[in-house]
Amino acid sequence: MKNTLPVLTYAFDALEPFIDTQTMTIHYSKHHQAYVDNVNAALEKFPELFEVELADLIKDLNQVPEAIRMAVRNNGGGHLNHTLFWELMTPGGAKAPEGALLEAINATFGGFAQFKETFATAAKTRFGSGWAWLVLTADKQLKVVSTANQDNPISDGLTPILALDVWEHAYYLKYQNRRPEYIDQWFNVVNWNVVNRLFEEGKK
Ligand SMILES: [Fe+2]
Repeated sequence: MKNTLPVLTYAFDALEPFIDTQTMTIHYSKHHQAYVDNVNAALEKFPELFEVELADLIKDLNQVPEAIRMAVRNNGGGHLNHTLFWELMTPGGAKAPEGALLEAINATFGGFAQFKETFATAAKTRFGSGWAWLVLTADKQLKVVSTANQDNPISDGLTPILALDVWEHAYYLKYQNRRPEYIDQWFNVVNWNVVNRLFEEGKK
């Protein structure tokens, strides 16, 4: 199947004032659309790959023909990452994880505040463009990692449950060079229900 933009379940202005309307509009309608168009254009050269789940291609990029491997890595990764990112945000959601996820965060990081600090540090110190992630490792442990460009931790055998886009296109119109402020404010719109669900699914 050809890749398409996912349906956004909230309006472009729904995450105000933390994520501004103009950024949401351009980020979704232009940047994400470009990743979708570009990965489809690459896959057109090997149309049998439309039968494979995009996530499965990204999990094992060596199975992707070399001629389109970098395009799939960058644009397929961009599509996959942004699809998750939109789902991980919501207006007025729970401000913190709960239940088994909170217990695991407390056990791994020493508390929710310490987790946020670890995650924010990964996001702040990712040089250039990339992402910060909370993942489950192969042995089901929580870990904070960051990736460059549009790389996704599934390529390293990890299962993402939280993702933050720290490309300048994600924050520059509102926060300019103040990436730390964007990271801090973004926590106001995290959809912890989705993080919790991904945690439960990943633990299986
Ligand atoms: Fe982005």
